[in-house]
Amino acid sequence: MHVCIYVLLVVGDLTITNTVSALYPTKSKSRRQRWEVKPSEMANNTLNPIRAIVDGMKLTPNPDKPMIALSIGDPTVFGNLPTDGAVLQAMKDAIDSQKYNGYAPSVGYLQSRQAVANFYSCPEAPLEAEDVILTSGCSQAIDLAISVLCNPGDNILVPCPGFSLYKTLAVSMGIEVRLYNLLPEKSWEVDLQHMESLIDEKTSCLIVTNPSNPCGSVFNKKHLQEILKVASRHCVPILADEIYCNMVRCSSPSLASLSSDVPILSCGGLAKRWLVPGWRMGWILIHDRNDIFGTEIRQGLVKLSQRILGACSIVQGALERILNNTPQSFYNNTIGFLKSNSEICFSELSSVPGLNPVMPSGAMYIMVGIDMDHFPDFKNDVDFTEQLVTEQSVFCLPASAFEYPNFFRIVVTVPEEMMLEACARIREFCQSHYRPPSRDSNDLDQ
Ligand SMILES: *Cc1c(COP(=O)(O)O)cnc(C)c1O
Ligand SMILES: *[C@@H]1O[C@H](CO)[C@@H](O)[C@H](O)[C@H]1NC(C)=O
Ligand SMILES: *[C@@H]1O[C@H](CO)[C@@H](O)[C@H](O)[C@H]1NC(C)=O
Repeated sequence: MHVCIYVLLVVGDLTITNTVSALYPTKSKSRRQRWEVKPSEMANNTLNPIRAIVDGMKLTPNPDKPMIALSIGDPTVFGNLPTDGAVLQAMKDAIDSQKYNGYAPSVGYLQSRQAVANFYSCPEAPLEAEDVILTSGCSQAIDLAISVLCNPGDNILVPCPGFSLYKTLAVSMGIEVRLYNLLPEKSWEVDLQHMESLIDEKTSCLIVTNPSNPCGSVFNKKHLQEILKVASRHCVPILADEIYCNMVRCSSPSLASLSSDVPILSCGGLAKRWLVPGWRMGWILIHDRNDIFGTEIRQGLVKLSQRILGACSIVQGALERILNNTPQSFYNNTIGFLKSNSEICFSELSSVPGLNPVMPSGAMYIMVGIDMDHFPDFKNDVDFTEQLVTEQSVFCLPASAFEYPNFFRIVVTVPEEMMLEACARIREFCQSHYRPPSRDSNDLDQ
């Protein structure tokens, strides 16, 4: 005797009833006898170092002092940096038009891609609509770029200190991460010899973040050309994370505008410059003047974009007007605010014993070195920043989260009075824990 299984297949208006027991006999041996649902290897290998470090910290603010978080890389949290009215109006009109409620093509509407191409095209690095892929934030752009260039077992070169997402994505895909050093004493320029020494035949991508998160540094033209030379010598394509492009206080061309041969995937988005990270609009600009990526990499990107239809249709609908109608004064005001706050923070902390801030020239961050020798009360940057919360209710992200111990990162988007108050509290904290070099220490012999 056996139980018949009736399967009802509904295909369009066709209804088929079928007996499948004879066709598909049960494989009783291979059948699971109990529940065993476990997270996948990929899920297990997906690690966010910021969460790993911050969740492990005991963050109990001083109840007598209101908390000031200088740790969050989101310019909207304090409400002091609203986006421009033109950006909001473009979104409202896109909704009201009812034209953007459906699925867009996986790489984005042609008209929206054209708008991005027009916005970023320059004579040295011309762009067409076909060179633009719209994504769900710059994060998905980075995901697609790494995915299309790298196989498991390959390695990628990543700046140190650097944005943690690159490693999070690469490790989950079985790609090895090799960290190349940035040099704080040279305004965080790349240690080119170190970078070059890491390249081998398995290196499939060089990631360059300019301007930098977490450093706020901006590379000049000459340095960018030197980076391109290394990539060119070893035939390694570049993933340029340029989400902070134009958020600078000095001139910094795009990598692509300087490249004659190295193919570049430039990742960007609305999040930072237009101050709307929650809108999740990003893009990849494909720069390939020597036809090295060719059609294959482009088709690979199109295929990958089909895994998820990434970018929100409504934001795509608003994109052309966001790019074309945002007044120059909005960009200038943002840059001016970040400049002023960076200068305040730098000058306040420069005179604090035991701290060494590195003056940024762009983005929205400043990195501060800690002379750990002079703070024997603390084991490391994590311990230091944890205690800073306990005593002064000021939270700065320990740079261990960027694989760069004994530094911390400050986000300079907070309101000016908050920045001043935070710096005063950091000063008080350092003064109470600072130990000057003792007479018999080795310092005097050097
Ligand atoms: C914020 C940031 C991103 C992510 O941008 P989203 O558009 O929010 O995904 C990518 N790269 C760097 C360096 C960033 O700081
Ligand atoms: C993932 O980790 C969990 C424990 O956290 C484990 O039970 C599971 O087997 C792991 N998955 C794989 C595929 O190794
Ligand atoms: C914006 O800043 C640039 C460069 O400093 C300047 O040339 C320009 O006139 C400014 N524009 C506005 C509208 O403020």
